[in-house]
Amino acid sequence: MAGSEDVTHGGATADQHFGDAEFVVVANRLPVDKEVLPDGTVNWKRSPGGLVTALEPILRSQTGAWVGWSGIADSDDNPDIEGIDIHAVPLSTQEIAEYYEGFSNATLWPLYHDLLVKPEYHREWWDTYVDVNRRFAEETAKAAAEGAVVWIQDYQLQLVPKMLRMLRPDLKIGFFLHIPFPPVELFMQLPWRTEIVEGLLGADLIGFHLPGGAQNFLFLARRLAGQATSKGTVGVRSRFGVVQVGFRTVRVGAFPISIDSGDLDAKAKSKEIRNRAREIRKDLGNPKTIMLGVDRLDYTKGIDVRLKAVSELLAEKRLDPEDTVMIQLATPSRERVESYVQMRAGIEQLVGNINGSFGSVGQPVVQYLHRPVPRDELIAFFVAADVMLVTPLRDGMNLVAKEYVACRSDLGGSLVLSEFTGAASELRSAYQANPYDLEGVKDAIEAAVGQTTADGRKRMRALRRQVMAHDVAKWAESFLGTLASVTETATDANRGVHLVQTSDAADQDA
Ligand code: ADP
Ligand code: G6P
Repeated sequence: MAGSEDVTHGGATADQHFGDAEFVVVANRLPVDKEVLPDGTVNWKRSPGGLVTALEPILRSQTGAWVGWSGIADSDDNPDIEGIDIHAVPLSTQEIAEYYEGFSNATLWPLYHDLLVKPEYHREWWDTYVDVNRRFAEETAKAAAEGAVVWIQDYQLQLVPKMLRMLRPDLKIGFFLHIPFPPVELFMQLPWRTEIVEGLLGADLIGFHLPGGAQNFLFLARRLAGQATSKGTVGVRSRFGVVQVGFRTVRVGAFPISIDSGDLDAKAKSKEIRNRAREIRKDLGNPKTIMLGVDRLDYTKGIDVRLKAVSELLAEKRLDPEDTVMIQLATPSRERVESYVQMRAGIEQLVGNINGSFGSVGQPVVQYLHRPVPRDELIAFFVAADVMLVTPLRDGMNLVAKEYVACRSDLGGSLVLSEFTGAASELRSAYQANPYDLEGVKDAIEAAVGQTTADGRKRMRALRRQVMAHDVAKWAESFLGTLASVTETATDANRGVHLVQTSDAADQDA
């Protein structure tokens, strides 16, 4: 370990040992999941979800460390990943139940996603969330070099910014929330709402996907944490909000996340993938229309919405079962959380109903795979699909929509997209629909299936302009560039910004 001489810096103790990493990503998950096979051999596979999809290419391009959990109980194995210094944070079975499945995924996840299921509030879960956040902060403090940049990710770790600042005031700390930040009225339900807001305010820069989330947070910083904030509208990658925390200035901004568009584009153009896409179509009997859904099996994703819409379109003969196949790829997710168990049963019943009513022997209408698909195979599915169905009831961004677009340099295919995804504000040329309006979803699917080649090409060209220009590297650059420019003194950061004091905030917010 470098920097082991006695150093005192701000709140650091006299015998503080700094780590080596100039750049540290802190996320609940490591980029790979540990899997122990029945014969005892250990396998590391890519972790599920959009966070890892987005961050992995960034960390590979910089020398840095990743602090996270390996996905199974009581394991502190540090897998060897080229170019990334891994720091595993072990979690016990009880911590997984209370911090991960409990507070993170049965309290915060539904609270931040429009209360799609009822959030559960348990004091023991909160206590464990605090303990685990503290361990992440301690591990990060060990990994980071003096003055390093630390980027903390997502709802599982909202207390880490403040805890880490207390351990290591020398660090530049950024936080990014990958899921929606809820409307104030919903957030106010949380018994520990003030602690969460204060935890986040330990960062120098707090990022959300959309300006609305940033503005909700600024309101809460005034209301709950009693800090003075700016009140103007927050822009996309511009016009950052400001919170004054004592002598520190915290910036708040909107940075819509994206994908490694160039890499997907190149892979989708390769001969191997094109051949595989043709093979997939052939295996399905070369139907006129292939529709595709790709999701973690999560109740926020609206998989039931698209299945109901397709079922009604078949019943109304607006889709022909002889000529239509729907593929639904669903990665298993959070399988011990009760709401996920129930949702899975509901989805599988819908798939069975559609196939029972409209399929024939050897020719089901819906092909459903409950497992993750290798990356290249997934790209081939994107290339093969005529209509991509993305119908979440609420989604922070939805990277799948952007991945589909990046794979369609042939300008073929069409995207049906829920208005309630973060991606909807960027992908305006998609067939957008309100997922609560089933007739609207059906109309959007029918329009996407029946589009003319010329209209389809025009729409896809517009979608690709957005996705190819705004990739994940640009997302990281804009966040990290803003973090680097955050000044220590309030005056510089606040120049030209009118701060609202909490005493007048109540009047103005009312
Ligand atoms: P979330 O982060 O909520 O899971 P996103 O759409 O933002 O949703 O990101 C999901 C990521 O996981 C994407 O990169 C997508 O390609 C990948 N993914 C989702 N489902 C599957 C699947 N069945 N097989 C392989 N990868 C998947
Ligand atoms: C979303 C969240 C991530 C999470 C991922 C997979 O993308 O924003 O923080 O890692 O889903 O969920 P899991 O619970 O399997 O980590």
